[in-house]
Amino acid sequence: MQALQTTAQQLVAEGKGILAADESFATIAKRFKSIALDATEKSRASYREMLFSTAGIEDYVSGVILFDETIRQKGASGKKLVDLLLSKGIVPGIKVDTGAKPLALCPKEKVTEGLDGLRERLQEYYQLGARFAKWRAVITVADSTLPSATCINTNAHALARYAALCQEQNIVPIVEPEVLMDGEHDIERGAAVTTQVLQATFTQLHQQRVVLAGTLLKPNMVIAAKDCPQQQDTTTVASRTVACLRHCVPAPLSGIVFLSGGQSEQAATAHLNAMNSGEALPWRLSFSYGRALQHSALQAWGGKSKNKAKAQRIFLHRCRMNSLATRGEYRTELESGEKA
Ligand code: 13P
Repeated sequence: MQALQTTAQQLVAEGKGILAADESFATIAKRFKSIALDATEKSRASYREMLFSTAGIEDYVSGVILFDETIRQKGASGKKLVDLLLSKGIVPGIKVDTGAKPLALCPKEKVTEGLDGLRERLQEYYQLGARFAKWRAVITVADSTLPSATCINTNAHALARYAALCQEQNIVPIVEPEVLMDGEHDIERGAAVTTQVLQATFTQLHQQRVVLAGTLLKPNMVIAAKDCPQQQDTTTVASRTVACLRHCVPAPLSGIVFLSGGQSEQAATAHLNAMNSGEALPWRLSFSYGRALQHSALQAWGGKSKNKAKAQRIFLHRCRMNSLATRGEYRTELESGEKA
């Protein structure tokens, strides 16, 4: 267990957070469509090599979550992408779920799959260099009826089975139960559902003997849905999120690394900063962002090698802003001049 705890602490070391670069084939194809680029084995490798080889990210990024293809891939230089990360002291991680599938008898709801053969896959990923993993459950909020208790409990059970298998194989589990921002629900509903989901998740982690000191939580923030007419200010989102976490998350947990979930880059940074500007908390609060770290860099890159330096500058800037946010030292004035 000591090795797990050491890795978990390394991932939430002061001023550092995680880059989520584990988009599935379908998701990366969607992202590349926004820059009119075909997703191929080669284009995915060049894009990710561009991100990982950015000079200086190791000052702000502790770990990178990879996709199955990426952990086996080489960049244009011929160097394995995992070795590129290791040479910078960045810990490689791996997405191990196989995606959210329709949950039987629960219309419009999903359960995340990937438990079959997971022990053996974790053993292989460990050999390939992974020291932490991710499993994402998705919870949809709609009308007054969703999510169902069945959806919440089934996903919590699967998250805990995954986490226990990871710890058995000396891999730190990132437990990600994401309450989606889609729809029109208000912040009250977001808070109520997130509370229910976190409580179910920690009950299952406890029942399945998962050691919290070797575990990271990757939650959504408590926030109104994208189409809700009442949107709250930064301070309110931060204080509602912290209150919910204080209520639900046991103190021994190693750390909390948020997903960005569709927030803009600057909103995701400002919310994290506000949470780290208040009272002392039992756990480190950091980031494990996908879109909120990559969006502007991807647009600036546009699939062309001539834009590499500019894209890397923008990516490094985003990493630095979020690093400052983990210390409560981010200011919006620092954003000027680094947009795509
Ligand atoms: P976003 O920050 O884009 O939500 O992605 C984080 C992630 O890893 C989702 O599983």
